[in-house]
Amino acid sequence: MNHFDYRNGVLHAEDAPIAEIAAAVGTPFYCYSTATLERHYRVFEAAMPKGSLIAYAVKANGSLAVIRTLARLGAGADIVSEGELKRVLAGGIPAAKVVFSGVGKRRSEMATALDAGIYQFNVESEPELDVLNEVAASKGMKAAIALRINPDVDAKTHAKISTGKAENKFGIGWNRAKAAYAYAAKLPALKIVGVDVHIGSQITDLAPFREAFLKVAQLVQDLRAAGHEISRVDLGGGLGVPYDSRTPPDPASYGAVVREAVGALDAQLIMEPGRLITANAGVLVAEVIYVKKGDEKEFIILDAGMNDLIRPAMYDAFHDIVPVRVRAGAQRRVYDVVGPVCESADLFARDRELPQLSAGDLVAILTAGAYGAVQGSSYNARPLAPEVLVKGRQFAVTRPRQSVEDTIALERWPDWLR
Ligand code: LLP
Repeated sequence: MNHFDYRNGVLHAEDAPIAEIAAAVGTPFYCYSTATLERHYRVFEAAMPKGSLIAYAVKANGSLAVIRTLARLGAGADIVSEGELKRVLAGGIPAAKVVFSGVGKRRSEMATALDAGIYQFNVESEPELDVLNEVAASKGMKAAIALRINPDVDAKTHAKISTGKAENKFGIGWNRAKAAYAYAAKLPALKIVGVDVHIGSQITDLAPFREAFLKVAQLVQDLRAAGHEISRVDLGGGLGVPYDSRTPPDPASYGAVVREAVGALDAQLIMEPGRLITANAGVLVAEVIYVKKGDEKEFIILDAGMNDLIRPAMYDAFHDIVPVRVRAGAQRRVYDVVGPVCESADLFARDRELPQLSAGDLVAILTAGAYGAVQGSSYNARPLAPEVLVKGRQFAVTRPRQSVEDTIALERWPDWLR
């Protein structure tokens, strides 16, 4: 459910006409809906056992305005870098609700997170245990840790976003888990508090979650029997969203699996949803630059490219594309919808049936609020697209369009080229 609807033939974000935003901001731009963000967060929170920490995976959408919108609802955050830590703190999420994931945390990042007073580190390897122990000891602190375990479960999602198989770089191998806990327990500046798992993203089947969570439940019991205090269980994120007509399981069904698998453990649960909160709360708005007839195909060439939204090129992702203004009686045609970037992979949709479009028309690429702007780049010297947040009838540019002059000013001449 989202708040992007047509009124009088014009796509609106809540009560704001997208054509009006485009006229004010120019294209391309990302447009997010506050009401959708709030709704997704609340529905997810309500489906989880009381007392759970909802640690929004900020990698999905790191806009400060989005972070603050969620902070005001009580969200915590799952971060994977010092940069994300600084962003969530700036957005108003207290450090005490922050969990730090990621396979490659550096000493300086650990130090910043310890100084900030984060809730827990999700440690992903034995060498990381040693380094975190050293960094915490050097500050006279104890770091609260969960070990991220790789349960060797196939999440049945795209290979590039699957994380819980033994072949993936993430987490501590299932067969090493107990030894890793025994090792961690001996390190004086670490305090074991929990177990963590995350098996992948855009998961549309509950069975892999159930399998992974049941494995975690068994592990928690074994670890407790071995004398470890396990008071928290972090289940990661990964619940999929509807990109097309298929409907993934809803948060309530996911919540039922959570309760069934780990509800009786008497532990605080932590969830790290990212996509579920932001994906359908955002669209990428673009203008048609040309309609080009090829020998085999007809191309819609947009002013947004793969540098703005890389998901179709990178994960073969499907994104629905709709006109911002509906023309009564428009013929339907089959197009390849592409961007201006000089790569054949700069293709948003192949053989897509759409109402006939002309140069100057606006389109919205839907479900672009997660892993859209955050994965943007300035390839082809294309400035990052602006971000706009809508609330009711109001809209605000929360990240202005970068100028090429700004990016040029960031560079320095070597002495020999001055
Ligand atoms: N927790 C951890 C440790 C993660 O690595 C991720 C996502 C999440 C939580 C949030 O997962 P979500 O609820 O959003 O599925 N760029 C890719 C997705 C990469 C996901 C990376 N990790 C895409 O556009 O599909």
